[in-house]
Amino acid sequence: MVEVVSISPEQTERFGELLGAALTGGETVAYFGGLGMGKTRFTAGLAKGMGISADVSSPTFSLVHEYRGEKTLYHFDMYRISTFEDLCSTGFYDYLDWGGVLAVEWSENIENALPEEKLIRIEISRGENDDSRILRMSGDSIYENSWR
Ligand SMILES: Nc1ncnc2c1ncn2[C@@H]1O[C@H](COP(=O)(O)OP(=O)(O)OP(=O)(O)O)[C@@H](O)[C@H]1O
Ligand SMILES: [Mg+2]
Repeated sequence: MVEVVSISPEQTERFGELLGAALTGGETVAYFGGLGMGKTRFTAGLAKGMGISADVSSPTFSLVHEYRGEKTLYHFDMYRISTFEDLCSTGFYDYLDWGGVLAVEWSENIENALPEEKLIRIEISRGENDDSRILRMSGDSIYENSWR
């Protein structure tokens, strides 16, 4: 586990970018942490680090946004997902097999469907003030080292 503190949205994005640059394809980046913790902002950085220039926005209504690059990024919002049927309807299981990168907001809701292989857990919680966030990453050391 590696833990960092972010004191601004820009810094959270930067941590995402550092991780994004370490991804090789096939990873699932699973976010845990409540409303407004910075998961979408982090994903914008992830895309940047993967060499994708796109305006990353919340996939709240469409459930998944797809950003094409050398490796494709699939950005999910599982906020409204509660059943296995719901999850299947997002295409999650199909995307898992395609070798892209999955970034999954509200992974709490699909915890037992997360793959074991190439799983990177990102937990975000509030820090000492409104703009600070504590980010914890658990995964293989090739990923954790991107923050060290
Ligand atoms: N250190 C920080 N890192 C990230 N965001 C921050 C930070 N400090 C303040 N913020 C603010 O918190 C909000 C984070 O929004 P964002 O949409 O990225 O969160 P989210 O976790 O995806 O929320 P949701 O659960 O609604 O999808 C933004 O308004 C951002 O400006
Ligand atoms: Mg979000």
